[in-house]
Amino acid sequence: MADVATDPKIMESIVSLCKRRGFIFPSSDIYGGLASAWDYGPLGSELKNRIQRFWWRDMTQLHDDIVGLDAAIMMHPRVWEASGHIENFDDLLVEDTVTNERFRFDHLTDEQRETMTSPAGNPLSQPRKFNLMFRTHMGPVEESASVVYLRPETAQGIYVNFKNVVQTSRVRIPFGIAQVGKAFRNEIVTKNFIFRTCEFEQMEMQYFVHPSEDEKWFDYWRGERMEYYRRLGIRPDRLRWKEHGPDELAHYAKTAYDIEYLFPFGWSELEGVHNRTDYDLSRHAEYSGKDLTYLDDQKNERFVPYIIETSAGLTRSVLTVLADAYEEERVGENDTRTVLRFHPDLAPVTVGVFPLVKKDGLAERAREIERALREDFSTFYDQGGAIGRRYRRQDEIGTPYCITIDYETKENDTVTLRFRDSMEQVRIPVSEIAPRIRSESRAYRRVGS
Ligand code: GAP
Repeated sequence: MADVATDPKIMESIVSLCKRRGFIFPSSDIYGGLASAWDYGPLGSELKNRIQRFWWRDMTQLHDDIVGLDAAIMMHPRVWEASGHIENFDDLLVEDTVTNERFRFDHLTDEQRETMTSPAGNPLSQPRKFNLMFRTHMGPVEESASVVYLRPETAQGIYVNFKNVVQTSRVRIPFGIAQVGKAFRNEIVTKNFIFRTCEFEQMEMQYFVHPSEDEKWFDYWRGERMEYYRRLGIRPDRLRWKEHGPDELAHYAKTAYDIEYLFPFGWSELEGVHNRTDYDLSRHAEYSGKDLTYLDDQKNERFVPYIIETSAGLTRSVLTVLADAYEEERVGENDTRTVLRFHPDLAPVTVGVFPLVKKDGLAERAREIERALREDFSTFYDQGGAIGRRYRRQDEIGTPYCITIDYETKENDTVTLRFRDSMEQVRIPVSEIAPRIRSESRAYRRVGS
């Protein structure tokens, strides 16, 4: 059995499972796909929505000092001058002078950078700066006055609404604004499935604090964010912190730490926690000419807040949840099963409902039970094939619970409830299905490797 944490073959198996079972398809598949663009299918869109809801609830419902926002993707072009993205949002690009393959200079090994040779051993071109923002035009005329950019981070939509939110909501510093949305970067190299793409989604929260308390809140949010991934059911031994060195810091950051996950292709960034100081609000105040200071009327003190940012990738979280959940498990002497051990709150289907056989009224009763469960859970009804095969099909898409209706159901209105992780089965009355699934989900602890 492959070591799931680091075997690159596992990545191929995950990509293939995602396509086969309707999680994620190549974009424009019937035209041969578009490099690095992906579409989320019936199960993938459910999974993504559930991760988004989990984050949104965690941020806005469980923290009474955080409010939500949904800003437009296209913003005034001056935003990107003020934010520093036009000047600084670059990667260094080098090209293999023989094959013309392009690389990010910072992704090459020390030796390749020193000798200026590509991974294929050919000479590299001189590094040149490449701005990652997508530029387009608003309106029918392509002139410089109509240039707009697709936002490379959702954060700026929050900063330009800081004053609006302070004036219209009952927030007092320290407080946060949370947002989920699309972001776009013209990445030089896109790879590893949905890990690095040009179009992706972020879940960002900007926490506004008094300048004297930035370090306290930075530490607080680091702790919160690591805990969040544990609540999401991610294995703690596959999560770690990485601090940004002085040469890695983004132009806006005083300090930054990444939460890294051990993907099948190695440790890589999942989320960034940044101390952005008063950089963003000061720059927007300067470029817009508007006063973006905050007045603490109790202390009668006016100041530009510092910002602690937690910036997670939503689409990257989908890959993390898939990679973390994926297992090829030996069953008995010579059988294996593929199972996605999703947390029940994230699983696209919560409960599969099967009649043991179609005849003798079992299918009708199973349908009735499935319809009743739909009110509370996402369900899947399946009456085709051997029962063992039906269980395996649900294991492969991560369904945590399956209900089977059999001849005993007719006698005493009980069913079997089967658990995905342990494959154990218990007999329970029909009236207890919903409360039992609810309590099992609340108490869920992952078993297995
Ligand atoms: N507002 C700060 C910011 O955008 P970042 O470290 O550049 O910081 C934050 O990005 C997160 O967004 C990353 O940790 C990652 O999860 C996600 N992300 C960034 N670029 C991405 C890409 N090209 N494809 C998918 N996700 C990406």
